[in-house]
Amino acid sequence: MASYRGPQQRPGAAAPAGGHGDRFAPWYLRPVNSDTASDILAAAQDLLPWMIEIRRDLHQHPELGLEEHRTNAKVRSLLDEMGIEYVDGLGGTGVVGLISGNSDGRVVALRADMDALPIQDDKDVAYASKIPGKMHACGHDVHTTVLLGAARLLVEQKTSLPGTIKLLFQPAEETVGGAKLLIEAGALENPRVDAIFGLHVDPTLETGTVGLHFGQRNASSDNLEIIVHGKAAHGAYPFEGVDAIVAAAQVVSSLQTIVSRNVDAQEAAVVSLGTIHGGTQANIVADRVEMVGTVRCASQTTRQLVLQRIKETAEAVALGLGARAEVNIEPSYDPVVNDDSMLEIVRETSRSLLGDDSIVIFSKPNMGVEDFGYYLSEVPGAFYSLGVRNEAAGIVHPVHQGLFDVDESAMAIGVALQVLNALAGLAPC
Ligand code: NI
Repeated sequence: MASYRGPQQRPGAAAPAGGHGDRFAPWYLRPVNSDTASDILAAAQDLLPWMIEIRRDLHQHPELGLEEHRTNAKVRSLLDEMGIEYVDGLGGTGVVGLISGNSDGRVVALRADMDALPIQDDKDVAYASKIPGKMHACGHDVHTTVLLGAARLLVEQKTSLPGTIKLLFQPAEETVGGAKLLIEAGALENPRVDAIFGLHVDPTLETGTVGLHFGQRNASSDNLEIIVHGKAAHGAYPFEGVDAIVAAAQVVSSLQTIVSRNVDAQEAAVVSLGTIHGGTQANIVADRVEMVGTVRCASQTTRQLVLQRIKETAEAVALGLGARAEVNIEPSYDPVVNDDSMLEIVRETSRSLLGDDSIVIFSKPNMGVEDFGYYLSEVPGAFYSLGVRNEAAGIVHPVHQGLFDVDESAMAIGVALQVLNALAGLAPC
């Protein structure tokens, strides 16, 4: 069965006159089904040359988190061209566009992140990064372009929309959690957002496929610092001091029991210490050891348990050896936990657009992070994976690597999906 259903493949469809809209009613006035989906996809495919130009321009001019000034200006100028009102400067370089329909109705937000990475672009293509050491190696240029494409289709039909669409162009996904900054700046208020949808390119999935996680999609992240305080002494007379290295060794060993002994075996969690530093000389008992690490958990409940056990374990073990552990936890990203009813919307829109065979359901969460979880802590929504792999064209490299690229034709699918999700999300529950 064809997994990709373009309008040209539909038997009995009227020959398109001036595009795709000459059947009984325009797509935006019809219920979402595979015919409507095909029409939206055709409209999105018509935008591909425009989108490829935008994406390649962004790709050649990558900007790191909170430095997205050129990207911000480009987004604003395109919103201006489309006649879409917006608020600028939210969370620093964020832009929030607003498409108001014909009634108050529900409010659906669509989100794109805009920042690039400090990675050298190793691709041999004309549109490779022009900035040494910076690259859109996570596809956020594609996310931004897809949101602009969706905005263009939605604003064309704004008088028929039974609610409001918010367009969140977000900074700094890779660094400080720009989602949190946008939320703190009020991006989900006035009007209050009822549902949110976001996508991420996935080079492990072929173009024309979509990856879905029901429930947990990405782990939380917390930065961990443990300082073990002891008392210095001559190495020949350790009984006169408190050995922070021996205490730290016991703390490290004991922390290994948290995931194995305290966390439900069906839950996912990781406690990793990345560095350990202590001591000054071979014949001095160390009075201080510093360790830093990362904690990843797939749910907020597990996260609270693990962080509490780290603090209790480190403090008590050190105390038992006469030392003192100082535990500092710096919260980083929330876990991404999809709302299953919102993800069901994405499954339905994917099915109507691409067919059942093109949907991959992932059973395990990804222990990497994504700041979309901040939105999902506030409003129901869904975050999903858009296939951008094209083996025949050699587009197979993972994100965050210098050879990463995307099959640009997937942008039309992303636009169609986000438009369909927005329309479904506007429908009264
Ligand atoms: Ni990313």
